[in-house]
Amino acid sequence: MNREKSKKIIDALSDQKELFGDELFAGKIIKEKPDRRFPDGFEKAASLEKLYAMINDCQKCVLGSTRNQFVFGKGNPDADVMVIGEGPGADEDLQGEPFVGRAGQLLTDILKAINFSREEVYIANIVKCRPPGNRTPLAPEMEACIPYLHKQISLIKPKFILCLGLTAAQGLLKKKESLTNLRGKSYDFLNTKIMVTYHPAALLRNPGWKRGCWEDVQLFRKMYDDLKNKKK
Ligand code: URA
Repeated sequence: MNREKSKKIIDALSDQKELFGDELFAGKIIKEKPDRRFPDGFEKAASLEKLYAMINDCQKCVLGSTRNQFVFGKGNPDADVMVIGEGPGADEDLQGEPFVGRAGQLLTDILKAINFSREEVYIANIVKCRPPGNRTPLAPEMEACIPYLHKQISLIKPKFILCLGLTAAQGLLKKKESLTNLRGKSYDFLNTKIMVTYHPAALLRNPGWKRGCWEDVQLFRKMYDDLKNKKK
């Protein structure tokens, strides 16, 4: 076997190891080494549509090789409120939209409970491709993807961001604190106010946490109303 061929196999196996640990999937050998660079000029995209066109075939991290669909984000491009989750699950990976599964239904209900509709907010995730088996995204995957989210935030210019769960909160705030510590306060970030609550999937597994989420989102709504009323 020539050197180039064996290097390709070693690269493909390292990609697999990163994704799946020591399990080996013979059918998953990646034929070409993907281009791990950021797409040229994405930071300069002038609209969400242009940004999407530039980044939707991203291979910056290994998740690009296992996704079905790139889940960019969805909602009002002029939203005052952005909602940030962790990463697409199986339903989102198939449909190409964030929060369309069971956790998404609960998110819709949570938003409704504080008088927001899904259509008036913008929903996105920390990583845009599904981590296999719905595992938590790894640090290099988050690092590779977060510049896209930052760009979305700078285009949408929301006044408020609600982070769902620890991965979203730590990813955006870069704070290594527990969810308990992060909840109940607001944080300044790129001209927005961020608050943190539980991830809806965690609420489905632990219904006892719903009361805490209710308190968090009431606080979020109050912060939103207070700022709106101040401007009148
Ligand atoms: N969980 C997330 O964090 N994001 C989704 O889009 C769906 C489920």
